[in-house]
Amino acid sequence: RWVAVLSGGLSHERDVSLRSGRRLSAALRSTGLTVTELDADHELLNRLSIERPEAVLVALHGGEGENGAIQSILELLDIPYAGTDPRACRRAWDKPTAKAELARAGLPTPEWMVLPQSTFRELGAHPVLDALVDKIGLPLMLKPVQGGSALGARVVRESSELPSAMMGAFSYGDTVLVEKLVEGTELAIGVLEDSEGPHALPAVRIEPSKGIFDYTARYTAGLTSYQAPAELSEGVARRAAELAVSAHRLLGLRDLSRTDAIVDESGEVHFLEVNVSPGLTATSLMPMGIEAAGRGLGEVFDGLIERAID
Ligand code: DAL
Ligand code: MG
Repeated sequence: RWVAVLSGGLSHERDVSLRSGRRLSAALRSTGLTVTELDADHELLNRLSIERPEAVLVALHGGEGENGAIQSILELLDIPYAGTDPRACRRAWDKPTAKAELARAGLPTPEWMVLPQSTFRELGAHPVLDALVDKIGLPLMLKPVQGGSALGARVVRESSELPSAMMGAFSYGDTVLVEKLVEGTELAIGVLEDSEGPHALPAVRIEPSKGIFDYTARYTAGLTSYQAPAELSEGVARRAAELAVSAHRLLGLRDLSRTDAIVDESGEVHFLEVNVSPGLTATSLMPMGIEAAGRGLGEVFDGLIERAID
C-alpha cells in the first residue's frame, strides 16, 4: 500500500505537526507501507489529485487540520482518510460547542462563558472583567475557543492578571473561552475505534514540573513527567474511560481521538476538550496511551488505514 501523511500546514501548531508527521511516517514505514509526507501548503490539492494515494493520514494540528477543512478536500477528491469527518471535526474543534454537547448529556465539564472581543468594545474592559470574575470566580482559565497545544491559554488567579491574559488569548482569535479552573490531576485519554466501536486506551497522567502544562512543558523533553498507565482508583479509571468514549460518541468522532480531562479531589472527572488529531510527537500523549496498551503506533495506524479503505 502507499499512503500519504499530511503534516505542517499554516496553523500556529505547524512545528508540532511536522514532528507528529515525521514520527507517524517512520512508524508506518516500519510496518512495510510506502509513505509520502506531504506538507499541507498551496500545492496540496494539486499533488493529492495527481498522486492519488490509497489513503491519507492527517497529522495536521490546529486550523485546517482539525476544523474539517482538509477533511472536506479529501471528501471532494474521494480519497479515503483515517479520522473524523468534516462536520464532526468542526464541532469538536470549537471548545464551547464540545463542552455544551457533553454538558447536555449530563457529563461534568467546568463552568464556562464565551467572550467575543466585540463585547469589550461595546461595554468597556473593566465592567466585562468584573462580571466575569463575579460569574465564574477565581481561579479561572482563559483559552482561545479554537486552538491547541495550550497556545494563548492562561491560568488566572488574581483579577490583576486578567487584562494581559485576555490579550494573550485574543491574539489567537476573536473569541475566548473563560472556564472555571478545576484543580486536580490532569489526564489524557486516547480512544481508538475498531469494528466493535470506540475503546479507551489507558489514561496518561500529566505532571508538569512547573505546575502548568503550557507549550514549552508539552514539547521539551524532561519538563513534564508522565505516568502511563496512570495509577488511578478503579472508579476514577472507569469514569475517565467512559468520559472519553462518551465524548467520542456524542460528537460523532471516528477512528481516533484524545480527551483531556481533570480529576478533582473528590474523584470526579471533568471534560476539558477533545482532539480529533492528537499530537504524535516524542512527548505527545496519544502514543503513550497506545504503548501503555501494549500496542505500537505503526500497527495502530496501519489498522486505521485498512478501516479507511474498506
Ligand atoms: N494540539 C496538540 C497537537 C495535541 O492535542 O496533542
Ligand atoms: Mg487540544
